[in-house]
Amino acid sequence: MTEKLNPEIASALSQAPGPIGVFDSGYGGLTILRQIRQYMPDYDYIYLGDNARAPYGGHSFEVVYQYTLQAVEALFNRGCHLVILACNTASAKALRTIQQRDLPKMDPNRRVLGIIRPTVEAIGSLTKSRHVGVLATEGTINSGSYGMEVRKQDPDIILTGQACPMWVPLVENYEFDSPGADYFVKKRIDRIMRLDPDIDTLVLACTHYPLLMNKIVKYTPAGVRIMAQGEYVAASLVDYLQRHPEMEARCTKGASCHYLTTESVPKFQESAALFMHEDVTVEQITL
Ligand code: DGL
Repeated sequence: MTEKLNPEIASALSQAPGPIGVFDSGYGGLTILRQIRQYMPDYDYIYLGDNARAPYGGHSFEVVYQYTLQAVEALFNRGCHLVILACNTASAKALRTIQQRDLPKMDPNRRVLGIIRPTVEAIGSLTKSRHVGVLATEGTINSGSYGMEVRKQDPDIILTGQACPMWVPLVENYEFDSPGADYFVKKRIDRIMRLDPDIDTLVLACTHYPLLMNKIVKYTPAGVRIMAQGEYVAASLVDYLQRHPEMEARCTKGASCHYLTTESVPKFQESAALFMHEDVTVEQITL
């Protein structure tokens, strides 16, 4: 069931500053959150992982959109004015509709930002050969979102996409360092490098993938740069808040981070300890 925004609470909350919301289908967004907190440690954050319904990568547009909208509503209900979709699949499949269709009705003063544009803005300065590979979920690749953004930003770049359908389940099931992961990682990197041997930059366009970094480095040819998104998203958020002082004033600064999950609390705690090397306080919610 969706957490509906009660109109009276909504109007009171819309005045009061609140934490920055960070959403992902599961644990992957923790890699983005970690970087954001390094760049902006003073702010308050709420992380929401829809772990019970992850992965999103194979779901239809409609389903990813519905799930993402429910998550955004839940974070708004908790007082967030600014929500970052720290998930490429949600950014590719739900962001535009939420920004254009839902936000004006929900609260035109709140903002939902994605992570594809800040990533694409950085690609042009990293590649020399102008041949770039994008590794992502099936949903992100099939949406064509990276291609569209790159054509706007750097039309000379030749982009090759490769879906890696097994990578998120490997991470969500803690198999990212297991010998079994080697097969799936090698297979997809070999394939994208065969499709375009001139690639000099591989974008990890899924927030789960940095957790497979050891394996990815192992199978990526020497001289090919591996680009994880966290630092670019964090730098872009710093820039956004500098350019939008009205939003900055609506973000509280208590250096706290609260975690929400749609899965069980012990499962999330175990994973957070594994992924973030940190003990966290978690609350289970239903979307
Ligand atoms: N971590 C998400 C992304 O960046 C999605 C993983 C999934 O749920 O399939 O695309």
